[in-house]
Amino acid sequence: MTDMLSSRNPYRPGAGVSPLFLAGRDDTQRRFKAILTASPELPANVRLTGLRGVGKTVLLKDLEEKAEGQGWLCSRVQVQPRHNTDSSITDLVTELGRATVRRVSNATRVRQAVEGAATAALEHVRVAWRDVELSFAAGGDSERDIAKELYDTVAAVDRHRHRGWLLMLDEAQVLRDDTDRNGSHPLSLLIAAVNALQEKELPIGLTLCGLPTLRTNLLKARTYTERMFRGEEIGRLAEPQAVEAFVRPLEDTGVEADPDVVSRVVRETECYPYFIQLWGAALWDAARDAGVVRFSEPLLDSIEKEIYRQLDIDFYDGRVEALTPAEQDLILATARCPYPPLRTADIHERIEHGAGYVNVLMGRLTEQGVVFRIQKGQYEYTAPKFHEYLKRRTDRLQTR
Ligand SMILES: Nc1ncnc2c1ncn2[C@@H]1O[C@H](COP(=O)(O)OP(=O)(O)OP(=O)(O)O)[C@@H](O)[C@H]1O
Ligand SMILES: [Mg+2]
Repeated sequence: MTDMLSSRNPYRPGAGVSPLFLAGRDDTQRRFKAILTASPELPANVRLTGLRGVGKTVLLKDLEEKAEGQGWLCSRVQVQPRHNTDSSITDLVTELGRATVRRVSNATRVRQAVEGAATAALEHVRVAWRDVELSFAAGGDSERDIAKELYDTVAAVDRHRHRGWLLMLDEAQVLRDDTDRNGSHPLSLLIAAVNALQEKELPIGLTLCGLPTLRTNLLKARTYTERMFRGEEIGRLAEPQAVEAFVRPLEDTGVEADPDVVSRVVRETECYPYFIQLWGAALWDAARDAGVVRFSEPLLDSIEKEIYRQLDIDFYDGRVEALTPAEQDLILATARCPYPPLRTADIHERIEHGAGYVNVLMGRLTEQGVVFRIQKGQYEYTAPKFHEYLKRRTDRLQTR
């Protein structure tokens, strides 16, 4: 048995911090692998959507690692709101493409130096740029620019004997086309360019990952995206996998969790991965401080209040505090509405402003990724258990 007092906390609550044991994503991993194998005859595009903290980013990292293991080259980035214009999405793709070209060229140079032979690389990509260009004759200059960058990268990747190039964009829900014809259409631009290359069976894939609004944004951008992407909804874990997420990190640590504690954590966290990591980390620290090697019910009782305090600070408070005072007032008012879903009609009844005001603010809250629209007049929060949090927050404000 290792000395627990000196070993590191095996839980990883955080944003994009990979857990020691990635639970319950086998089906997605398997399908992802099959998609890559079927490329380029079938386009390797995947859309991963889910709520805050369900584990999209760590899954994306895992898929990246697996794809690289299958001989693909991946460029993974987190999209920022500033990328949401035609020119900056083009710049982003250019930057990623050129970095990839440098990466393959350097690797080949090193290999050739080691092997002492300048083996001529084979080129599989026989499709010339002209052929691709023809397929979007109707598209504009920006589309041609972005497609040319994609093409050059794929050709280089192929020349250096990799299976293909995978562009992986996290937080992709921030890319949204303007409804105005003369506005910015970064999402359409990217999709149309990738589609043009894939129609010529070039080995390129697009993995888009983000909040549930990503799906609607894609559909609005191009109607054919429903067929172009394989959709994967990343949700909370099933109960047996939630148990694994909680118990597996304890393996070989000499620390054990009582069955009652396991079921309580599973119930309390509602099988949401981030919460499981947070509960685990807090229990571990408490056990270490108490000098015990069991997670017992009394131990959990003694820290439960503190866990919620930590949860509010680490996971929720920032989301509310980043909003304007008017947005904060509105979101706090929703604590008193029935949920789920959140109906704008219920919100009107609880604040002094009219319907137009509520709609505008809900639009802004959607843009900021706090809520997402499920249908006309109905929304859901993007963070799990957010309604309970808002109730805790309003209670706290009232007792102050
Ligand atoms: N399958 C899993 N098994 C165990 N732990 C997980 C799993 N998925 C995620 N986690 C843990 O949950 C936390 C959140 O993961 P991650 O940051 O990937 O979520 P996310 O969906 O990207 O959240 P956000 O929408 O806020 O970006 C991390 O601490 C991670 O270690
Ligand atoms: Mg993430």
